[in-house]
Amino acid sequence: MSFKFEYQAKVELEKVNLVLYKEMQELTNYLNTEQIESLPKDDNCLFFNDFKSQTVFVKLETEQEKNRRLGFAAFSKINSLKAKKINALGVFDASFFEAFMLSSYRFDILKTKPNSLEISLLIDQKWKVKCLEISKICHSVFWTRDLVNLPFNYLNTTNFESAIKKRFEDTSVNIEFWDKNKLQKENFGGLLAVNQASNIEPRLAILEYKPENSTNEKPIVLVGKGVVYDTGGLSLKPTEHSMDFMKCDMAGAAAVLGLIDAAQKLHLDKWIVCICPITDNLIGNQSFAPGNILTMRNQMTVEVMDTDAEGRLILADALDFAKTFNPALVIDLATLTGSAVRALGENVAAIMGNAPSYLFHQLAKIGEETGEKVARLPFWDEYKEQLKSDIADIKNLGGATAGAITAGKFLEYFVAYDWIHIDIAGPAFTHKTYHYQGLGGTGFGVRLLVDLIRNYTGNVKGS
Ligand code: BES
Ligand code: MN
Ligand code: MN
Repeated sequence: MSFKFEYQAKVELEKVNLVLYKEMQELTNYLNTEQIESLPKDDNCLFFNDFKSQTVFVKLETEQEKNRRLGFAAFSKINSLKAKKINALGVFDASFFEAFMLSSYRFDILKTKPNSLEISLLIDQKWKVKCLEISKICHSVFWTRDLVNLPFNYLNTTNFESAIKKRFEDTSVNIEFWDKNKLQKENFGGLLAVNQASNIEPRLAILEYKPENSTNEKPIVLVGKGVVYDTGGLSLKPTEHSMDFMKCDMAGAAAVLGLIDAAQKLHLDKWIVCICPITDNLIGNQSFAPGNILTMRNQMTVEVMDTDAEGRLILADALDFAKTFNPALVIDLATLTGSAVRALGENVAAIMGNAPSYLFHQLAKIGEETGEKVARLPFWDEYKEQLKSDIADIKNLGGATAGAITAGKFLEYFVAYDWIHIDIAGPAFTHKTYHYQGLGGTGFGVRLLVDLIRNYTGNVKGS
């Protein structure tokens, strides 16, 4: 007698079934009683192979975020099978499919052999409208992720401007870019100082989406920090675990741009303006220096104690400029402080500001629902003490404690309207895959803002 192993090419089935269910009895449509009983009871995401077909069974939960995590688990299982076509069966769940799609994102355009696998999800006709909406939002998130993931040598200020122009050409979004000359005339002292060592001019991007049926009388203005690369300037950052991922320092700008992209595609009935100050923070013989005193757009003087606290300098001018729109509400998003990350961890954004409390509660609730979690920090005026300067109006650096709050307090000097500041330094970028939020740029903020703005009921026309 002889025995040998024979090798066969890996069996790759073209089509995989994905069955979503809520109650065990729904499984009788697919499996016999014996098979159902053999299923482990403690796993919500099961792979079942009966040699004729491969199926992933997913038992849905009631909480949206749990279903998103299941969306990631199911995608990972199906992806490992290299399935190209997925047959979606059973019940529909928006959170699940949203996360399923978000999990498919890979930033591999700079690999010489990018993953070219195209996956199609075959869905029931009656899910079409909802899936189309999910797909639009996810594509905005993907654009935001791409912008964040592109390194400085692919996305400097000039490239960023081109990417924005390209994205919004032939859309209902109006765009305008201010160049250095215009910024000088408009006294953007903070933005110009940060840009001083650069061979590339700064820009101010102004985008407006104003549909005819907008319900708000005054615009909602979104401001995003657009530092395309942050070396720290003369207050140079250490390379490891710091400067090496500072391509992500325009994630605030990328998120508000992703939002306006989604708003336009979804035809949201809100008037929205986005303002993004864009520059790099480089080092050179023209650098602005610690000890310098700047005059900002609002005429306040700022003593620069640390050139690495550059985000607040460029945002301050943009927030001051936001006043000219007579806004109903201003929200800024910025990868602003390591302190926010130390306080809340890598997956939660810090929120603070002077807007009415109900808006903060609403934002926290939407954070829970979308999985883009936010936590409010205190904002007492006592924190301003740390920003006192002997020779200028304020300085750009607080003390050793409460750094996320003192950064927010710095910005508060430049606002005169209802305002929420969102520090996304933690959740904007991950260093290892974090379920459906992925690896690298997460697109954090896009889904949060879509839900907030969609449900915004303040400042109704004529009331
Ligand atoms: N871009 C950084 C903040 C940051 C840290 C973003 C970690 C993403 C992840 C910001 O410009 C910065 O350098 N902040 C300093 C401020 C300090 C000098 C007051 C910081 O947090 O160390
Ligand atoms: Mn910095
Ligand atoms: Mn920065």
